[in-house]
Amino acid sequence: MSEPTLTDQRTVSGVSIRLEGVTKRYPGQRGPAVDAVDLEIAAGETVMFVGPSGCGKTTLLKMLNRLIEPSGGKIFLGDEDVTGQDPDQLRRRIGYVIQAGGLFPHMTVGTNVGLVPGMLGWDRKRIAERTDELLDLVGLDPEVYRDRYPKELSGGQQQRVGVARALAADPPVLLMDEPFGAVDPITRQRLQDELLRIQEELGKTIVFVTHDFDEAVKLGDRIVVFDVGARVVQYDTPEAILAEPAEDYVADFVGAGATLKQLTLTRVSDTDLHTPVTAAVGEDSAAVVARAEAAGERYVVVVDGRGRPVSWPSVAELSRTTSVPGTRDERLPVVGLRSTLNDALDTMLAASQGGVVVTGRRDTVAGVLVVEQVMAAIQSTRNEVRG
Ligand SMILES: Nc1ncnc2c1ncn2[C@@H]1O[C@H](COP(=O)(O)OP(=O)(O)OP(=O)(O)O)[C@@H](O)[C@H]1O
Ligand SMILES: [Mg+2]
Repeated sequence: MSEPTLTDQRTVSGVSIRLEGVTKRYPGQRGPAVDAVDLEIAAGETVMFVGPSGCGKTTLLKMLNRLIEPSGGKIFLGDEDVTGQDPDQLRRRIGYVIQAGGLFPHMTVGTNVGLVPGMLGWDRKRIAERTDELLDLVGLDPEVYRDRYPKELSGGQQQRVGVARALAADPPVLLMDEPFGAVDPITRQRLQDELLRIQEELGKTIVFVTHDFDEAVKLGDRIVVFDVGARVVQYDTPEAILAEPAEDYVADFVGAGATLKQLTLTRVSDTDLHTPVTAAVGEDSAAVVARAEAAGERYVVVVDGRGRPVSWPSVAELSRTTSVPGTRDERLPVVGLRSTLNDALDTMLAASQGGVVVTGRRDTVAGVLVVEQVMAAIQSTRNEVRG
């Protein structure tokens, strides 16, 4: 493993990827599925592949780790030409995550995650330590999940295990093919936030295929918009693509409601969060009600012993109790600081609530965001767009 370096105040442990005239012709097909693609991906960047179904995204991705053999062209990792390298060796340097995690159903979570280190001949103790570290990294308690089987996990949890497994041998490159395509929107949002957090920490080079343009804008340092034959139509930052789609085709792809898409460019952490009155579980209700009234607040965020949100009752509800109840509201709308305003709006709509609780480090309360703030943000980008 190479030592992480600090570029742009960001840890980079990834390597650059360069494609030169990479081509794939499938037998019996008229044109090439991937036609002489040139592309350079900088070390430590997350690059999103978008484009219509069948345009060659998966084919291109799988040529990077040689699950598909190119018909022509060259692939470099860093300065190294890996076009002729043994595919098995290559795959140990490239993590791969697919839809639904692609976990082996007959192996426990721990065994799944430890698979590649096992192949690399690590000793048992080191594999066990690495497995726990990774489960922790993707937000799964190792004690709880290590010995479960994939079918005993939710879709989102399986996806987290898939990410942990891909990271197991600390590869510099991570390929992800619609990894979050099969989970519900709220879970997808959480997984995206997790990936952003992990990437901030690790600085891998990530190539990520998605059908969801909002996802591309949220996660990508850059986006490649492909057309048939994996023709690169535009390769730029999300901001630039939204502001100036290179062709009508891209404009169509970006879709209507470009103003709303701007919501995807704004993070919850970019807004002025409101600091709510909080109350600890078990606290005297009358004291909390007095505190809220003094602050002119109609709602109180109840937190557990570690400062994590539990529920969000109104002052009126609290005044009907003697001590602050610890009942966890399973439908409490919560987003992280890395979530986009778009995510926040979705979460509010899904919970039929006019606001969300925002959490930061270790899932503690960082503030609240109300729908009016999101609306104000839409309004202000609209004004900007109109000039
Ligand atoms: N094994 C194969 N044999 C023959 N043709 C194939 C094979 N795999 C893919 N193709 C064709 O190559 C083209 C590119 O397919 P690919 O799976 O790379 O597209 P994609 O952009 O990933 O699509 P999607 O968004 O639907 O996943 C398509 O026309 C597809 O039909
Ligand atoms: Mg595909």
